[in-house]
Amino acid sequence: MERVYFDHNATTPVDDKVLEAMLPYLREQFGNASSRHEFGTVARRAVDRARQQVGALVNAQPSQVIFVSGGTEANNLFIKGAAGYLRPSQVAVSAIEHPCIAKPAQELARQGWKVRKLAVTRDGQMELADVDAAVREPTGIVSVMLVNNETGVVLDVAAVAARARAAKACMHTDAVQALGKIAVDFPSLGVHAMTISAHKIYGPKGAAALVMDKRLQLRPIIHGGGHEQGLRSGTENVAAIVGFGAACELAGGRMQRLAQQLEAIRARLERGLREMGAVIFGEAAPRVANTSYFAFKGIVGETLVIELDKAGYAVAPGAACSSANPEPSATLLAMGVDPELAHGAVRFSLGAGNSMEQVDAFLRTLKTVVTRLRSLTAMAV
Ligand SMILES: Cc1ncc(COP(=O)(O)O)c(C=O)c1O
Repeated sequence: MERVYFDHNATTPVDDKVLEAMLPYLREQFGNASSRHEFGTVARRAVDRARQQVGALVNAQPSQVIFVSGGTEANNLFIKGAAGYLRPSQVAVSAIEHPCIAKPAQELARQGWKVRKLAVTRDGQMELADVDAAVREPTGIVSVMLVNNETGVVLDVAAVAARARAAKACMHTDAVQALGKIAVDFPSLGVHAMTISAHKIYGPKGAAALVMDKRLQLRPIIHGGGHEQGLRSGTENVAAIVGFGAACELAGGRMQRLAQQLEAIRARLERGLREMGAVIFGEAAPRVANTSYFAFKGIVGETLVIELDKAGYAVAPGAACSSANPEPSATLLAMGVDPELAHGAVRFSLGAGNSMEQVDAFLRTLKTVVTRLRSLTAMAV
């Protein structure tokens, strides 16, 4: 059975060009980038080049790019690192953040911080009036994601950043799901720091970056030899960092074309979904082109995901990064979606390797599965 992957917001396959760029650094060019001999110099040059490539994709200086192991680490570095230099006040994060922002923010409560969840609208966009209300209180840290990993909705980070800066707060955005899908321009977002990750853009797992305003003071969370300007000690994962750089270059070159192609495929998918009676979340808001988040009333998302997997299709239930968690998606609850409908949520995320034909075949399978599950539910009541 051919297996078809529609879960690119969870992770993407490493592109052949990226792998080719990485391989020498796993083989003959294996040096430690901190070593003073030629092996080390070769590795250091490769890391420097990747820093330029990553910076170029987001319009930042190479020196603003701090390499870390993953988006999770970058988000932790920002929240904990910023708190390390501030007196406890309020930390405000959107109600739809990934757990690797929501949980570190929650952790700050132990140190006396007040944690505030910023409201979103029914379409999954920021409720700016709630941001205004939040920053009336002394606020040290604000973090709002650029694109939500479940709905694909693009949030108005620049508007939040303007308010956060006026309130003298440190402002961060998690742009992990935006990179490679829409243009991400670090300076025009107006944030102090931004998280991006390689494995969501056809790069390898194990490399990511916190892009930051050099005036931002962060206390490191990993201490040691002082790598990455003292902010992230530990021998650089040279091959993965090289892969991240190559993936950024690839993304920059094909982003517009890819988005157009995926938008057309998603339109076809969503036409089919609507015909079958699905509810599509966030569809009235600006969304990245590859994501569709939907539910069929009365059908549990997990069940649908398992049935589709048996038929060879990989899609994700509710909150993808925490599939082990049976709670309905916090994002959908924050958007005011009925919890029962939220239990039905399935995320479909396209990537560069997908085609119209795959989506047509998927829709045929989905129709069969949904019809069967509906008849089972009808029998049960
Ligand atoms: C919005 C968002 N932020 C952060 C992460 C975590 O990134 P990483 O897997 O690189 O740790 C993810 C992963 O799914 C994500 O979707």
